[in-house]
Amino acid sequence: MARKEGAISEEANVAAAAVAATATTAEVFENNPLRDPRDKRLPRVAGPCVLVLFGVTGDLAKRKLLPAIYDLGNRGLLPPGFSLVGFARRDWAHEDFAQVTYEAVKQYARTPFRDEVWKQICEGIHFCPGEFHDEGAFDVLAMMLKEIDETRGTGGNYAFYLSVPPKFFPTVVEQLKRTGLAQAPDGSWRRVVIEKPFGHDLKSAQELNAITSAVFPESSVFRIDHYLGKETVQNILALRFANTLYEPIWNRGYVDHVQITMAEDIGIGSRAGYYDGIGAARDVIQNHLLQLLALVAMEDPTSFDAHSLRREKEKVLKAVRLPDDLGLGTTRGQYTAGWQGGESVIGYLEEQGIPADSMTDTYAAIRLEVANRRWAGVPFYLRAGKRLGRRVTEVAVVFERAPHLPFSKDDTEILGQNALVIRVQPDEGITVRFGSKVPGTAMEVRDVSMDFAYGESFMESSPEAYERLLLDVLIGDPPLFPHQREVELSWEILDPIEEYWATHGRPEGYPAGTWGPPSADAMLARDGRVWRRL
Ligand code: BG6
Repeated sequence: MARKEGAISEEANVAAAAVAATATTAEVFENNPLRDPRDKRLPRVAGPCVLVLFGVTGDLAKRKLLPAIYDLGNRGLLPPGFSLVGFARRDWAHEDFAQVTYEAVKQYARTPFRDEVWKQICEGIHFCPGEFHDEGAFDVLAMMLKEIDETRGTGGNYAFYLSVPPKFFPTVVEQLKRTGLAQAPDGSWRRVVIEKPFGHDLKSAQELNAITSAVFPESSVFRIDHYLGKETVQNILALRFANTLYEPIWNRGYVDHVQITMAEDIGIGSRAGYYDGIGAARDVIQNHLLQLLALVAMEDPTSFDAHSLRREKEKVLKAVRLPDDLGLGTTRGQYTAGWQGGESVIGYLEEQGIPADSMTDTYAAIRLEVANRRWAGVPFYLRAGKRLGRRVTEVAVVFERAPHLPFSKDDTEILGQNALVIRVQPDEGITVRFGSKVPGTAMEVRDVSMDFAYGESFMESSPEAYERLLLDVLIGDPPLFPHQREVELSWEILDPIEEYWATHGRPEGYPAGTWGPPSADAMLARDGRVWRRL
């Protein structure tokens, strides 16, 4: 394969292939200086493989994917022969892509920069220039991968990561089929990774799926919902099913309601092309928030294999009920000019690339119920928005008030409801809120909090969601990837709401830096409740 002067030598590649073949998981693990010495379990390490990244020039690659690859390497979770191939419409040589990767790693990697790790990753970096419809470019890609197998011992194992707008999926998938790259020879594997949005409604999601499933079997398709890769989200299952404390009260007998919030302080930045016409509900409620709801509401799976986990989530999504009156039980907003972090910011309609009459929601709130024995009658309030007061994602399980308070009314006047709050981000952890006696001569009772913070309890900072998910793709471990059925069930929930909104006026304005439109407060007030103050 042609390389510029000064490129990574073939000898180095062959040497890496030799290491790949001989280094054991235990050695890679033992020799890793980032290892927590208390951790005695062998980690899950990827075997020899190539990750082919389509869309390397995008923001996701720069901020998340390339740094995550480095972080995995730094944690000793990639085999020495691991190779990364970038594919994009750029006149780059391998070294140019290596430089782009280097800069992304320097700027965004979570773990410290170590020359020896970078050197090893860099040796496996390749670039294939081309456009998605260009058959010649895919032929070159196929040849390149064959050569990589020979020089780096990657064994014909390829993961194709489509970090590209969905309109390109059919072309790329078709090219992978035509070149035979989608077909795994015996003893090797081929996987395809797709990023949300998985369509913009049920119909388009099914069409999209038909394209990939015509070429890749379902077991080779990895759909990324990066919220499932977050440690705090996975911890919902540990909290519920590894303890005895919470599960007995995790039901309609004790839970008054659940609030799931994903608030962002950022606007849409340079993403007008993607975001306009999509909006908050399709962007994050259809996927991230409904997945959170499913994890909070599901029954315990018989095991944590993909099949059992997905089946329980599917049951919840199937049981979700929309409000009878979509006008009262849902609301949406659009940010107007305001103040954020002491600076004045423009409104959504003034953002670059947004039509002056755009109807896109930048805030959405929905009241759902889960019609089953455990949850009947318990509202699940979901809200998500851009340009809100601050960045915070949390799940708050709010409990019923005590049935009887043997105190004077004055003493419990400001006592709230017990709550268990799973702080997804930032400041990851769990808070339990309960009433406590105020020190003094009276029996005054007031809310206090008990906190668990990841940062204090664990030595290592939590891996980024993409580290976990990329590793799982390379290992071929599917539990953290939604099945197509979950995607479709989520659209079945959202489609009627979107249809209703499309024919009922426009989103209500809310100034940037506030907590959404007044109609969102009114929605909860009708139920005698308030949104948590964040
Ligand atoms: C993405 C959405 O899925 O999640 C973005 O498309 C959003 O609009 C992002 O900003 C938020 O992710 P995180 O991990 O920062 O909460």
